Amino acid sequence: MPNAYISGTGFYVPPRVVTNDDLRTQYGIDTNNEWIVQRTGITERRFADPGVGTSDLAVPASRAALESAGIEAHDLDMIVFATLSPECCFPGSGLYLQRKLGLCEGPKAKFVPALDVRNQCAGFLYSLGTATSMIKSGAAKHVLVVGSETHSAALDLSTRGRSVASLFGDGAGAVVVSATEEDRGIRSWHLGADGRYTEVLSQKVWDISKRPFIPQNAEGVGQVQPTMMWAQMDGKVVFKNAVERMIGALMEICITNGVTGNDIDLFVFHQANLRINEYIADHMGIPKEKLVSNIQYYGNTTAATIPILLAESERNGKLKRGMKVALVAFGSGFTWGSALVDW
Ligand code: ACO
Repeated sequence: MPNAYISGTGFYVPPRVVTNDDLRTQYGIDTNNEWIVQRTGITERRFADPGVGTSDLAVPASRAALESAGIEAHDLDMIVFATLSPECCFPGSGLYLQRKLGLCEGPKAKFVPALDVRNQCAGFLYSLGTATSMIKSGAAKHVLVVGSETHSAALDLSTRGRSVASLFGDGAGAVVVSATEEDRGIRSWHLGADGRYTEVLSQKVWDISKRPFIPQNAEGVGQVQPTMMWAQMDGKVVFKNAVERMIGALMEICITNGVTGNDIDLFVFHQANLRINEYIADHMGIPKEKLVSNIQYYGNTTAATIPILLAESERNGKLKRGMKVALVAFGSGFTWGSALVDW
């Protein structure tokens, strides 16, 4: 059975920087830099321009990952696309990406399967687990795994929505997962979900349990209202569960592989809130230099945080071949995941 390893990484963030002060001065939100930095660690995020879709951000991220893996798009056997902000309800963003990468054209046209994964902040790790299974089963040699989000299109950028709107940003990260006969790569992964918490962090615009399906606003009035677009969150419940589940997920991969935190060279956690990650690091005795973060500059890009952080860490030299790396994520659902990788 082949092993699966991450052969290439890439990322792309849109050029428009929106600082915490910009939220106040440009959007009129009653907030301030100190409040956001103290509670989340975020100083700025990126917003895509109108008309730029989730798969558009994914194209340069994917091209960078393909280049770093030393392969071309036509070498791919599958695309797995994690997002909670697809360009439309259906078809999935993976289909758009397949076309935009040129896979449908020319004599080498290759109609590889394209799968969208809707597991929010844990979406990248669910996708990585899926790709690894495809490689290990022999069904694929190279799988492109993408996390991409354009949150800015559906944030309540007003004082009413400030506790959610100040957290999120746009961006895309991608990795290529490839087969190898070498003794390295993705050693194991752990995934979990707890459906008791579906209401704690959600966006109900597609509540098709209402029949006939007429979009409802918060008061249950069946007409299209801008407010139904916005994500609802109980931040304190998210915080508490994120800490507990991320610690549990990290311990799962340590126990499965017979390693301790001391054996791990780099911890790449989902970037939801710097305070969550610092709390976990303190609790687990993880030295600061082993914990990478970039939420300060990009905010929470949901499914994209881990692949962006991997690509950035490779490029700035913090992530090197031969390292043992722990990936951990938690998000809406609740859903969570972890993976141990011999890089
Ligand atoms: N600027 C200024 N004031 C604000 C802002 C803001 N951006 N946001 C909220 N406030 C105000 C609220 O209106 C409230 O005012 P009030 O007391 O007059 O009503 C006050 O600050 C406290 O609001 P809370 O929501 O109770 O603030 P809390 O201390 O819980 O912090 C936060 C909110 C930062 C969201 C916190 O709960 C948190 O980090 N939770 C984790 C959630 C998270 O990380 N979610 C990311 C998505 S999920 C994921 O990726 C895992």
